[in-house]
Amino acid sequence: MIRKFRFGKPFDTEAVVEHIEAENGIEKFDNRYGEISITDAGDSAFCYRYTMSDNDAVYGLGEANRGINKRGYIYVSNCSDDPIHTEDKLSLYGAHNFIIVDGNDKFALFFDYPSEMTFDIGFNKQDLLFVGCNKYDLDLYLITAESILDIVKEFRTIIGQSYLAPKFAFGYGQSRWGYKNAEDFREVVSKHRANNIPLDMVYMDIDYMDSYKDFTIDSKRIPDFTAFVNEMKNEKIHLIPIIDAGVKVQPGYDVYEEGKANDYFCKREDGTDFEAAVWPGLTCLPDVLNPEARAWFGEKYSSLIDAGIDGFWNDMNEPAIFYTPEGVEDFKQFYDESIKDLKEIPSFELVGRTVGLANNKNDYDSFYHSINGERVCHKDVHNLYGYNMTRAASEAFGKIAPDKDILLFSRSSYIGMHRYGGIWTGDNNSWWSHILLNLKMLPSLNMCGFLYIGADLGGFGCNTSRDLLLRWLALGVFTPLMRNHSADGTRRQEVYQFEHIEDFRAVINVRYRLIPYLYECYKNAVINNDMMFKPLAFVYTEDRIARTVEDQLLLSDELMIAPVYTQNAIGRYVYLSEEMMFIKFMPDGSINKQILDAGHHFIEVALNEVPLFIRKNQKISIVKPARCVDEIDISTAEFIGYC
Ligand code: NOJ
Repeated sequence: MIRKFRFGKPFDTEAVVEHIEAENGIEKFDNRYGEISITDAGDSAFCYRYTMSDNDAVYGLGEANRGINKRGYIYVSNCSDDPIHTEDKLSLYGAHNFIIVDGNDKFALFFDYPSEMTFDIGFNKQDLLFVGCNKYDLDLYLITAESILDIVKEFRTIIGQSYLAPKFAFGYGQSRWGYKNAEDFREVVSKHRANNIPLDMVYMDIDYMDSYKDFTIDSKRIPDFTAFVNEMKNEKIHLIPIIDAGVKVQPGYDVYEEGKANDYFCKREDGTDFEAAVWPGLTCLPDVLNPEARAWFGEKYSSLIDAGIDGFWNDMNEPAIFYTPEGVEDFKQFYDESIKDLKEIPSFELVGRTVGLANNKNDYDSFYHSINGERVCHKDVHNLYGYNMTRAASEAFGKIAPDKDILLFSRSSYIGMHRYGGIWTGDNNSWWSHILLNLKMLPSLNMCGFLYIGADLGGFGCNTSRDLLLRWLALGVFTPLMRNHSADGTRRQEVYQFEHIEDFRAVINVRYRLIPYLYECYKNAVINNDMMFKPLAFVYTEDRIARTVEDQLLLSDELMIAPVYTQNAIGRYVYLSEEMMFIKFMPDGSINKQILDAGHHFIEVALNEVPLFIRKNQKISIVKPARCVDEIDISTAEFIGYC
């Protein structure tokens, strides 16, 4: 059952697509599920409080730090461009305000509120679940059902069907910030092909553009773009360009000129175009919350689609801000008044002020959207920007290329965006702990509707190592987006950079053997509003141990995955709630099978092996590996199972 409670005058985020009659929140909210107080101004104008019992677990929050069970920490929904995902970080790139309480009471809450919101889940007081924000204009959805899985389904039904990525998007993708020209891309393709490593996608990061201007190509680097896209197509490679949110301020640049002439950019308080620096220098932000501007920006993707492109990744759309001219002015003033004449420079303050130029709250407070004739301050709708940038593209694709299946995913997101595209989880690092974080986010994102998901395999920042990359790829075998991506300046991490390339081939081949099965699982999850990845706690609800396992996941109805995520390990411990068949994809293409009883086991897994568990009475199909999705021969399918 779903009830919708209205507080104040909420902004219509369009996260929910089903009509549900709103009840008066103050009068009607059922106190069994928590207490709500509202005050007129200041911090925490809206407060929700629920006293958790000792055994209550709290799930949800999509792209967020820490565990699958969110209890014990504090999280803030505030889409942020922060590339250091350490455990203490409260906000990442997405804002997914959906939580499930699983205990004596089973219920879920979706706080449809587009600005900053705090979720204190037993952090300040271990039994208190607190959710608060600075305005009380929101819709709160309360969902109850027999089981947690039913709750998720009900929620997913009201937010609408998730984006369905094309099948080629399940292929392996190679990306790197630093590929600069056609030759760099050709080399990536030829080295994968020459080494017999499957590959379907090569990602184009910002350097393909002319001076980082959206929808342009640097013709010195790629002289005939359409011909190049075709050349890659003949190699069965999809080129996937990045699109950034900010449009370079440059007189004569058509996208800038059009946006300016039509008032399609976000404005300062005085009505002039708001400008913020990102890669191209100063940029304007397309007002994607304004339906007309959104349609205009979306239409811009057509130039690349006309050249044969069939996939995009939308970046820097929190939106990220390196600095604004106003911020720099403030800084200069601070420097002149407080630093210039000092003998000893107060380094903490200076560093703080310098770092604080980026993604500064004052900047987000200082610009406006024009939405259906109303001026709305960005800070009140901050978490909707990436969502609407991706929506712009998706809505336009429906018009520009209705018959084309286009891959689309975004860095920033809000619930609702799941209907338009997938996400990648941004700038992780080549850290072992980030393999585990990648795993833990999968079910949490699925609860919130995001099904086409994945992390930068091998790690984006820092130097990767051979063993880390192999272990991470062995998890990536199962994630819808399987992309190796890394930052400029880090160690090169294409698989052919490392010794014993056959080990990488073995792992990536497993992905291709599973693609028909995995794509089917994914598609079914989309169609049935289901989760592709489930925590053990959602299935083995009565098993006290399974309820706390956070490094294994159920995949669809048939499988359990348990990747190795520690350095120098020869394997790992797993917990089985039921008897299962443990299989290992071996480097020579054979498959080892072993029946394991319920209970604890140590499984040995070498770096070039991929472990997997098949549940009792289940089977899956596997095919022969292929060099790309298009060449997978379905007639080679055989079943492997445990009946
Ligand atoms: C930030 C993105 O998160 C990253 O993936 C990309 O490589 C850089 N921007 C450069 O475009």
